[in-house]
Parts: sequence; structure tokens; C-alpha cells
Amino acid sequence: MEIENKRKEVLFTREDINERVKELGQQISREYEGKKLLVISLLKGSFIFTADLVREINIPVKIEFMATSSYGNSTESSGKVRVLYDIKEDLKGYDVLIADDIADTGITMEFVIDYIKGKNPNSVKSCVLLDKPSRRKVDLEADYVGFTIPDKFIVGYGLNYGDYYRNIPYVFAFVD
Ligand code: IMP
Ligand code: MG
Repeated sequence: MEIENKRKEVLFTREDINERVKELGQQISREYEGKKLLVISLLKGSFIFTADLVREINIPVKIEFMATSSYGNSTESSGKVRVLYDIKEDLKGYDVLIADDIADTGITMEFVIDYIKGKNPNSVKSCVLLDKPSRRKVDLEADYVGFTIPDKFIVGYGLNYGDYYRNIPYVFAFVD
């Protein structure tokens, strides 16, 4: 891949991420106290974020996974979302928190929120590690945001380019 020869700009180190994820976990624990919290992790991008986030949550929590498609191997959203893998749990009575790596156009999260609302849980909120509000194509505001970032294509900590770099423990962008 040609992009591999590009220079890397680290946006958030492992320590930055750990600190912020810990804060999010504490906030979620406080705000969902006494509720039936169920976190839905959107695969594949949020698997690392979710794994870290739920370990900072100190109230009872169930974890489910869902996979949608939108990007393929491109860096631009196709604008169409399909459910590739659905949750198995009956959501009645649950307060659902959808976790994703990044809100970019917002199309994925908006779709998943509506889709999950259709399963009649008690409530649905969203949590993203990264937010690129300048790229929004729909009216989506995530309820919990790790970091707000400018319009750059980000990789690492679960986020991919060509399905690589998900394992890199920090968040970076390629620069020319
Ligand atoms: P959206 O539907 O445009 O908000 O995009 C959501 C999905 O696109 C995220 O869950 C990511 O998987 C992917 N995505 C968006 N921006 C980036 C990026 O900068 N790097 C890697 N993946 C991204
Ligand atoms: Mg994704």
C-alpha cells in the first residue's frame, strides 16, 4: 500500500486514550446507575474501544455486537448502511448504549439508533471515541464523545485503512 510510506501524525497516545476512556466509563457508570445497561459494540471498528470502555464501567452491563457495512475498503462512506450481523438479545427494558469508533458523516450511527429503537428498548444513546462533526451529513449528535477531531482520515485503536492498522494502540493520521 502506497499510503504506508507516508508520515504519521499521532493525534492521541495510548495514555491520552486510557485517560479519556476511563472518564467516559466513570460518567456512564454514574448516569446508568440502577438501569439495565446494555452496550452494543459496532464491529469491527469499535472492538478495542468497547473492550477498554466496558472495563471502566463499574455497574452491571451486558455487551452485544452488531456489524454494519458502509465503507468497504474505501475511505468514503457509500451512504448506505446494511446490517451484516444483528444482536440476539431481546431489548425490552434495557437502556442501550451504542458504541462506535468514530462518527464521521453520522449515517451509520443514525441508522443504528433508529434500527435499535425499532426493537423497543427503554432508551438508546450513542458513544463514540472520535467525533468529526465537520463531516456530518445527517443531524446526529453523539451523547458521549471521547475526542472531537478535525477532518482527517484516522487509523489505529480499532480504526482501519484497508482493514489494517486496527491493532496499533494509538490514534494517528497519515500526512503527506
Ligand atoms: P459514518 O457513517 O460516516 O459516520 O462512518 C462511520 C464508520 O466509518 C465508522 O464506524 C468507521 O468504521 C468508518 N470511518 C469513518 N471515518 C473514519 C476514519 O477517519 N478512519 C477510519 N474509519 C473511519
Ligand atoms: Mg465502523
